[in-house]
Amino acid sequence: MDLPFHVASHVDAALRAAATRLGLAERGFQPEVRVADPAHGDFQANGALTFAKREKQNPRALAQQVVDALDADTQAAFDIALAGPGFINFRLKPATLLAWLGRYDSEAHLQSGAATDHAGQTWVVDYSSPNTAKQMHVGHLRSAVIGEAICRLLAFTGARVIRDNHLGDWGTQFGKLIYGYKRWADPAALAADPIEELERLYKLGHAATPDGSPELDEARAELVKLQNGDPENVALWKKFSDVSLAAFQQIYDRLGIRFDHNLGESFYNDKVDRIYAELTATGLAQESEGALVVFHPEHPRFKTQPFLVRKADGASNYASTDLATAAYRAEHFQADGIVVVTDFRQADHFEQLYLTVRKWFAAKNYRVPELHHVTFGAVTGEDGKALKTRDGGTIKLKALLDEAEERAYAIVTEKNPELPEAERRDIARAVGIGAVQYADLSQNRSSNYVFSWDKMLALDGNTAPYLLYAVARVRSIFRKASLDPAAPPTAGASAPETPQELALARKLVQFADAVQLATQQLRPHFLCLYLFELAGAYSAFYAADKVIVDDPAVRARRLLLCHRTLIVLETGLHLLGLRTLERM
Ligand code: ARG
Repeated sequence: MDLPFHVASHVDAALRAAATRLGLAERGFQPEVRVADPAHGDFQANGALTFAKREKQNPRALAQQVVDALDADTQAAFDIALAGPGFINFRLKPATLLAWLGRYDSEAHLQSGAATDHAGQTWVVDYSSPNTAKQMHVGHLRSAVIGEAICRLLAFTGARVIRDNHLGDWGTQFGKLIYGYKRWADPAALAADPIEELERLYKLGHAATPDGSPELDEARAELVKLQNGDPENVALWKKFSDVSLAAFQQIYDRLGIRFDHNLGESFYNDKVDRIYAELTATGLAQESEGALVVFHPEHPRFKTQPFLVRKADGASNYASTDLATAAYRAEHFQADGIVVVTDFRQADHFEQLYLTVRKWFAAKNYRVPELHHVTFGAVTGEDGKALKTRDGGTIKLKALLDEAEERAYAIVTEKNPELPEAERRDIARAVGIGAVQYADLSQNRSSNYVFSWDKMLALDGNTAPYLLYAVARVRSIFRKASLDPAAPPTAGASAPETPQELALARKLVQFADAVQLATQQLRPHFLCLYLFELAGAYSAFYAADKVIVDDPAVRARRLLLCHRTLIVLETGLHLLGLRTLERM
């Protein structure tokens, strides 16, 4: 049988076919397949029970009928048993496990297997998206790390992913910044650390232009000049964007991020008039005290709390540019899906935005893409309060990543003092940055994330060092046996047999379920948890079963299990944005 990558969908399809043969499908039979408790099997189908209850039939008898109607290939591939009041349990036979492992033998083959409903679709992912002329701080970490993992998961399952950095590069702050820049800019400081200098100039500009002062009028005049295309101010603004992006890119390089586009808010300046016109013409927006607003009468809060899409002074705002952004992504990129990654505080904005976009697109007969707002909780210290430097300042992302590498370097040096300095530095980069990424990704993103150096750098537990070490350990088996880890001798492998081999093989097959769950829910922690469990199953196997034994069939199958563990761990960690190591 041609066993697919995602075994649960095969079981689902086989049960549907059986139900069709029995005439149950048209009466609403649903298989309800899920991953089972390992004590009972690999997958469990609850649908016969649900169906029989509803139809007032004997559930066990009905479940047996469905099992008997399964095609011969499926019957041969699984041990199938009825349990309890009418559950159907499926356990992959050892020979089937071997066939699956034989087929998914490289990162590329895992990827082609994983291609599912996203295949051929275009997804735009808007993440990181910091504001220009400011440094990235610890609050910018989660969007970048979670967003990149989501991009990789979507691409892995077949989507064409467009990474778009929606920079906050427009707004009233640029009046004050230009005001400060023209008076106090220090060329030497600008050359040395441009963003630091821009932050200083903004602060000076802000302090020098208190409310009601003539200086504030001057700063406003700078803003108006910029908005009207004054060449000097436009050139300055452009310079602010350029130096900001260059500084951001240094962080992105360390996190393995490369954007396809940096279409910031300013890009949509000339695209908002159409929004006002269409929202007004379709009757969605109305004037209110000079402003343009959208209400959603069906919504408990947004029926009275307006979505302000144009300010009373006629200026655009965050909502106007985001509406124009949605249209641009749907039309120019032909997006099938749009994902925006920001913290939970923007939940209302995006709920109102998406409600508005759906109604507006429907009214104009535009195709509506799938719209997702991926939110995450705050980063806090171990005391539960916002993470700050000792003197109460915000922690710069650059300083945080430097510290991660320094701490990892100290650990690596203590463990492996004999390794050359350059290699220890390289390991420290992968472990330090990986620890920061993984600690963020391994928790459900909806919760606040407690930042703890000791936890994220621990060599055991659900951490990057533990998983990177698991990878290095499998690699060392091949190295010690002088075998090529990319193509170990696995021909003639027999089917898994010992309890630890079987448990490990089953865990490997579940990679498909973990990828599917993480991608469907846009929640990378499901993949983290899976990788942690896989590493555990590998440890148990390695402790129980010697790999390099004399019996050629046993040796080949154990090498096969080691190799597949290696590629699944590495593929999974790469999907999360981590770099894996040969040794550590
Ligand atoms: N610049 C915004 C911020 O720093 C995030 C932008 C998110 N993307 C968007 N299309 N609104 O909060």
